[in-house]
Amino acid sequence: MAAWVPPFPEPPRRPGWRQRLEGLRSWFAWLTPFSYRLPAGRASLLGQTMVLVNDPGEVRRLLVDEVDEHPKHPLTLWVLAPLIGRGVFSVNGEEWQQQRRWIDQALQQASLQKVFPQMQEAAAAVVERLATRLQAETDACIDLQSEMTAYTADVIVRTILSEPVTGPDAAAVFESFARYQHRTVPALVLRLLGVPGRWLEGYLQHHARPIRVWLAERVRRRLSGESPPRPDLLQVLIDSRAFDAEQLVDQVCVLFLAGHETSAMLLAMAGWLLSRDQPWQDRARQEIDDLLAQTGGVPSPADLRQLVQTAAVLNETLRLYPPLPFVIRQSVHGERVAGERCPMGGVLTLSPWVLQRHRSRWNDPDGFCPERFLGEGEREAIREAYLPFGLGPRRCPGAAFAQQEALVLLVALLGRYRLDPADTAPPQLVGRLTLRSTSGAMVTIHERQWPDRRGAVARAAAG
Ligand code: HEM
Repeated sequence: MAAWVPPFPEPPRRPGWRQRLEGLRSWFAWLTPFSYRLPAGRASLLGQTMVLVNDPGEVRRLLVDEVDEHPKHPLTLWVLAPLIGRGVFSVNGEEWQQQRRWIDQALQQASLQKVFPQMQEAAAAVVERLATRLQAETDACIDLQSEMTAYTADVIVRTILSEPVTGPDAAAVFESFARYQHRTVPALVLRLLGVPGRWLEGYLQHHARPIRVWLAERVRRRLSGESPPRPDLLQVLIDSRAFDAEQLVDQVCVLFLAGHETSAMLLAMAGWLLSRDQPWQDRARQEIDDLLAQTGGVPSPADLRQLVQTAAVLNETLRLYPPLPFVIRQSVHGERVAGERCPMGGVLTLSPWVLQRHRSRWNDPDGFCPERFLGEGEREAIREAYLPFGLGPRRCPGAAFAQQEALVLLVALLGRYRLDPADTAPPQLVGRLTLRSTSGAMVTIHERQWPDRRGAVARAAAG
């Protein structure tokens, strides 16, 4: 039986002016039906040649075997600079190597075991917030995109700075970032059209400032001794003595941004999919109940490995909705890629979004089918065309962190609530720096009723 198809921005057969205008809002508007069928595609966008690479062998060559010849594109550095300066995400060569060593070390020291209680506290705060909503209205309709952004920002700020992020501060930071994201696609298009970079930089800086100021103040307090040293990511970076004050702010900004928007989108879309797929929600909840029963309600990070059905849901969500839909590189010398010519300095686009829906690789490519991660049937596609966390030396250093954070939240959420469809528009997806929905990810929540919860609660008590 074919799996059901959740919403996605389908490419039009013949793009018209409306589509071109949409291209100022979202990178998805530049895709065509052929993008999902061919091993590579070439387009000229405002004088810049772009090659979309779908051939798995070529993807591996570019991201793993010939990394030095395919650095991050200077436009990536330019569009992110107002926000993350010369942080690890966008720089290249030795500068990147040195930074990445310390970022890896910092994440290793803040081990998954150590951050587990912080994740649980942040998840408990979400559950409590929702409980308050449910006291006021029985059918609470919530936007998972903003709830999950609050959760993942809370987790990453606790991990970087040992403090929770709540209240008006948090709201101001999220709004600034949403505005920044919104302006990146037009800024890049205008830059390619020849508008002077410095005008656009001022425009981007204006929206980046509140986020940088907020994080810079916390770094300053730690460096001046106003706030004491704590066992967190910032302290590892300070103790490394590898960064001056400005560079510390850059790295903290990278970790904050890379570490919450992406995970938030994973959780928002996973929750939305589960609200529309009750059988999968029941399967995930059943194993969560079993785990809670078996561990007396207090699972350890290692226990989460038993949640194979829930992990399959998360993997399938990452396939259909990769939070970083486009990975961009530059061809330093120019070359032929999967039959397409890319000139010197041209843009190479490796897209988890396209690869993970490619017609030649996947069965039922647009269908929601977590089962594919439980059997053998699609092993080859998963090995060759599944890269939500990227590939090679620049692969995401926060992948395990994100997976644990997502499982902790789902245990807390599904343990207490049912997610049901909301009577509102489905997510309207746009591809900017990250994947976002312009209409949120709306679900209704209900407290689980006693007969439903009795099994889990009684078994947890017995355990
Ligand atoms: C579901 C969640 C996440 C997804 C899908 C994701 C995805 C990615 C991808 C695809 C890249 C590679 C980009 C490229 O090659 O151009 C990347 C890089 C990165 N990610 Fe993540 N990420 C997630 C969560 C996190 C978290 C939680 C952290 C931090 C705790 C983090 C920190 C970073 C950093 C620092 C880089 C830059 C690495 C480098 O350039 O060497 N990410 N991420």
